[in-house]
Amino acid sequence: MQDDTKKKTTIEEEKGISGWIEYRLPVSSFLKHIASYQVPKNLNYAWNFGSLAGIALILQIITGIFLAMHYTPHVDHAFNSVERIMRDVNYGWLIRYTHAVGASLFFMVVYVHIMRGLYYGSYKRPREMVWFIGIFIFFAMMATAFMGYVLPWGQMSFWGATVITNLFSAIPLVGNKIVIWLWGGFSVDNPTLNRFFALHYLLPFVIIALAVLHVIALHRFGSGNPSGVEVKSDKDTIPLYPYYVVKDCITFGLFFIVLFVFVFYAPNYLGHPDNYIEADSMVTPEHIVPEWYFLPFYAMLRSIPDKLTGVLTMFGSILVWFLLPWLDKSKIKSGAYRPLFKKFFWVFAVNFAFLAWLGGQEVKEPYITLSRLSTLYYFAYFVIVLPLLRKYEKSEGLPKTISDSVPEMK
Ligand code: HEM
Repeated sequence: MQDDTKKKTTIEEEKGISGWIEYRLPVSSFLKHIASYQVPKNLNYAWNFGSLAGIALILQIITGIFLAMHYTPHVDHAFNSVERIMRDVNYGWLIRYTHAVGASLFFMVVYVHIMRGLYYGSYKRPREMVWFIGIFIFFAMMATAFMGYVLPWGQMSFWGATVITNLFSAIPLVGNKIVIWLWGGFSVDNPTLNRFFALHYLLPFVIIALAVLHVIALHRFGSGNPSGVEVKSDKDTIPLYPYYVVKDCITFGLFFIVLFVFVFYAPNYLGHPDNYIEADSMVTPEHIVPEWYFLPFYAMLRSIPDKLTGVLTMFGSILVWFLLPWLDKSKIKSGAYRPLFKKFFWVFAVNFAFLAWLGGQEVKEPYITLSRLSTLYYFAYFVIVLPLLRKYEKSEGLPKTISDSVPEMK
């Protein structure tokens, strides 16, 4: 009888154990295929932040799993179990600080990644799906970080959870019911802590799945590049390995340097001291502030006196990203060749940082008015500036090919 497998494949089975395995499980040919993947030759360092986000995600999962081995999700024990991790568990302090600082750095990396997308028009045709999946990832990251912050059961954990979950009560008719459903009771309590722990463990794996889809969508048309001109010939590309793999290693190294500088020298710099006080439902902290990466959105929420409008503004500030491919119809993708866009973009970036600063201030004048103005510019950038630029802006020196944009690499 003829061997059926011979008909189906032209791949030769090599000798030895590795040959036997490779024939049946072609891992090394898969890796070779990825290594020879062609990437535009002119990518700058802004393109390193996607792989860096992947590393940050893996680091969070690894440290998180070790933390979960010693953490107790119960209101009577959670705070003390974290103290035990810090004092008694071997290298517990290192694992916990790496996880806490790692979360902050993960957000920094992803914020740069998003800003890169906004500047170089990465959301434009044909990569809209990469962008949309990215927005879902960002929502999932925010949910994960929010629930993670509740777990140590400190004062900020408890009051942050109370304030943010209460926002849902602004929804007409069903709002209060939703809040009670989210809490699993009539206040933030043990059932809330338990479900937050379960979801905080689960969501990172959902993020992994989304990140895989993100990369599959990216590989459909390949990476964009700083010129905004698509790949036209082999001359425009170089293989992923060794060029970009080596370049990525540089930013991986820098990432770990920054991470460990914080972990060893200023581990609590990015956190709030009140979270070292155990949660007490009878004592409200003077200022309830979320982690720094939520501050721009928190500033928008607080700038509006009506609760429902505030909540809609806050969620709308991210949902508006979904409309970007239609709001910015300029044919020129890259901000580098858009003289007017460039100026508005940098004002947008500074304004976003300013919003973060405002989110950390008290709710009083002049911060309220400033927050309103900043929120206005934030939205105006998307719904007024970008559509108008399409009409009035002339591009500047757009190259015909990627190779033309980097003559020094010819
Ligand atoms: C866990 C979080 C994320 C991971 C692991 C991730 C991973 C990646 C990777 C590996 C790339 C290719 C390399 C690069 O262009 O930097 C990429 C590209 C991209 N990402 Fe993400 N990403 C994440 C979050 C996001 C978010 C939140 C957004 C936007 C809201 C986003 C939007 C994009 C876009 C538009 C591209 C294509 C850029 C281009 O080729 O011009 N990503 N991402």
